[in-house]
Amino acid sequence: MLDFDYHNPTRIIFGKDRLDTIGSLVPADARVLITYGGGSAKRSGIIERVRETLAGREVHEFGGIEPNPQYDTLMKAVEVVRAENIDFLLAVGGGSVIDGTKFVALAAHYDGDAAELLAYGLAPITADAAKRVLPLGTVLTLPATGSEMNSGAVISRGEVKYPVMSGLVFPVFSILDPTLTFSLPETQVANGVVDAFVHVTEQYITYPVGAAVQDRIAEAVLKTLIDVGPTSVAEPEDYAARANHEWSATLALCGIVGAGVPQDWATHMIGHTLTALFGIDHGKSLAIVHPSLLDVRREQKREKLLQYAARVWDLDMGDDDARIDGAIGRTRAFFESLGIATRLGSYGVTEADIPRVIESLEAQGMTALGETGDLTLEHVDAILRASL
Ligand code: NZQ
Ligand code: ZN
Repeated sequence: MLDFDYHNPTRIIFGKDRLDTIGSLVPADARVLITYGGGSAKRSGIIERVRETLAGREVHEFGGIEPNPQYDTLMKAVEVVRAENIDFLLAVGGGSVIDGTKFVALAAHYDGDAAELLAYGLAPITADAAKRVLPLGTVLTLPATGSEMNSGAVISRGEVKYPVMSGLVFPVFSILDPTLTFSLPETQVANGVVDAFVHVTEQYITYPVGAAVQDRIAEAVLKTLIDVGPTSVAEPEDYAARANHEWSATLALCGIVGAGVPQDWATHMIGHTLTALFGIDHGKSLAIVHPSLLDVRREQKREKLLQYAARVWDLDMGDDDARIDGAIGRTRAFFESLGIATRLGSYGVTEADIPRVIESLEAQGMTALGETGDLTLEHVDAILRASL
């Protein structure tokens, strides 16, 4: 097992009718900004219920944070924070609203051009660099990203999605009430299953380091997603399925699966670029890239692919390559079974578009990806061609 430091300060409040807890978690004298997206949280009445729990405090609202949250929109929220002297942020939404709110927390009192915060990449933004950072809580409405219990955010500006990492933006608390996700469109639920699944595989299908317990946790989350994912998509009000989907998604990227193991993230970096260039949803971008990446990287990942085949898909017949083919094929079929197309062509992206993806990754300096840093742009080209 590799060495690791693990710290996660986010309090999780899980279950039905837990919104009232917010009243005891937000300081009584806080000046609160509730942030939300395109309006689903308004229409479903969640914002109104959240406002009731905050009675006695000064509460402002900022709506309109879009999927793949845009820097310019978030800077408008920063203006509200400064003008109203806000000292607590409450994000109500999916990964985009939560990520955007994390950025607002960092940017609100940043001493300088806040765009500089986008340049850190995967290097954590420290207290020294960020100066004063606002505390935030979240009410999760879409189980997918894990943003509700991690320190990451992904912020879009122009044709690039920028990872922003900082231990200063772990939510203080997150309310996970599966019933608040019942209003989701089917395709967003399916996106969420794929996103959580690939978060786990990017921390699991690398190379063995003797991390037996992390491997078993990863396999448990993957098998749970395979079990409950189809029901979570097809039966939106099945509480048990949605609750297990939701907790799986949180566990997938709260640091537990990835502690002390190598991590890949190439599927995410390529997927982010597909989203930025072609507007493909995050979960769908991963469903396109991941099966092909596993195929192209089968030599580097051989041992863990065989473990994945045996323990997640119960494949133990045939030679090694047949079992690896079987596991990759099952992975693709699982995504497709949720209604998520796994080929670029289904999203109108053709062979002629591939050079744009390569150029964008090159411009972002993403030329040495993967768990061993040897996934080059030639590999990306092969992965995208295998995804056509
Ligand atoms: O904006 P509203 O009106 O709320 O509608 C949203 C949005 O259109 C809708 N929605 C959310 N909850 C709903 C609902 N509609 C009805 N009922 C509800 N209960 O769903 C749509 C998509 O929402 P979004 O937040 O964009 O989806 P998701 O949670 O998948 O987040 C995707 C973003 O997270 C980033 C992605 O790059 C992308 O920008 N990621 C963040 C990560 C992190 N912070 O750790 C890791 C991930 O790998 C990912 O990169
Ligand atoms: Zn993701």
